[in-house]
Amino acid sequence: MTESAVARRRIVVGVTGGIAAYKAVGVVRGFVLAGHDVQVVATDAALRFVGRPTWEAISRNPVETELYEGVAEVRHVAIGQSADLVVVAPATANELAKLAAGIADDLLGTTVLASTAPLVLAPAMHTEMWRNAATQANVAVLRARGVHIVGPESGPLTGQDSGPGRMSEPDEIVRAALAALADRDGTADLRGRRVLVTAGGTREPLDPVRFIGNRSSGRQGVALALAAARRGAEVTLVAANLDTGVTGSGPPAGLRVVSVGTAAELREAALREAGAVEVIVMAAAVADYRPEGVSESKIKKDDHGDRLELHLVRNPDILSELTAARRPGQTIIGFAAETEPGRDRQLELGRAKAERKGVDYLVLNRVGWTEGFSTPTNSVTVLDRAGAIVAEAEGAKGTVADRILDLLA
Ligand code: C5P
Repeated sequence: MTESAVARRRIVVGVTGGIAAYKAVGVVRGFVLAGHDVQVVATDAALRFVGRPTWEAISRNPVETELYEGVAEVRHVAIGQSADLVVVAPATANELAKLAAGIADDLLGTTVLASTAPLVLAPAMHTEMWRNAATQANVAVLRARGVHIVGPESGPLTGQDSGPGRMSEPDEIVRAALAALADRDGTADLRGRRVLVTAGGTREPLDPVRFIGNRSSGRQGVALALAAARRGAEVTLVAANLDTGVTGSGPPAGLRVVSVGTAAELREAALREAGAVEVIVMAAAVADYRPEGVSESKIKKDDHGDRLELHLVRNPDILSELTAARRPGQTIIGFAAETEPGRDRQLELGRAKAERKGVDYLVLNRVGWTEGFSTPTNSVTVLDRAGAIVAEAEGAKGTVADRILDLLA
């Protein structure tokens, strides 16, 4: 992801010898996509499950395994000392025991002991091993020391077994780990808030191959969702046709994503999710109109000649529906993209819209052929419900996102 405007941090991912090591590749990838510098420290057993080239390709750094290499650089402690966050995924029963006892007979052990960074462990093992009193006692010791334990979840295990012991999904581990980092940094000022963000632009089908759409890339909405997640919020992103450049090659890590296509689908998702959140950020560009009917087959030139008339009908205003159904204490933020060049006229339109839609804040941004859409930067003015200017921000969409979220914190 390029939009998160995160400070690049050094994250050590320790990998131990369990079959869930293959899922840990997704954890490393999640941190890299979020813009961080990732150092994999793998045990010998881990490399039996997933080979060195995979870790190096995904982390974009050499893998460290050996205690007796780089001795002159005092590497057995240097890696831990320089880490901002240490994550062990998967953490086997054996590794939990070693960490609880402070054993440092390999590079991962010395790295963890030498680090003062938050430590996040994602256990993975068979149910009997997880439930064993020894493992439970080790986990209790680690928790009491402030170590974050993510999972394990209940589900299918290797072979025929099923039950507690399955490593959490990579996205969940990344989310929990970045939240632990934000807590340490003191930047988790949205901790405990549930936030719904809509992003992208809806597409209203004309026939099976054509649609009426808009130029929204989803960049600003995704930047808001990522910034909120980084600041500790639990974020659901309702994503409408995001540009591929916005999400890179995978879904944004640490967010729950609901994909939608049309305004009707976005409306359904937003109304369904809204009841469970404290904050709604309606950044999506929703089509005001949709074709009155959708042709079952491709519309043919031969049937229409030189003129084709389309009949459009109004879509419901989702934002107004959301504010009408507002939960007590819920904060709702709307967006207004205007092509109006004059600032006074823009503010006038924005003030009328804030009042008409009943939002708590309205983010006003100018758009045009070369402004606002698909660009990495944005320039916004935020109005409150009474029409007063409460914030102005300009720059990378991640920076603009943080400025908007400051209003909530
Ligand atoms: O009226 P206008 O389209 O400018 O309003 C923009 C705001 O309203 C945005 O927050 C957008 O997400 C929302 N909207 C909506 N439903 C529509 C049209 C816009 O929720 N049908």
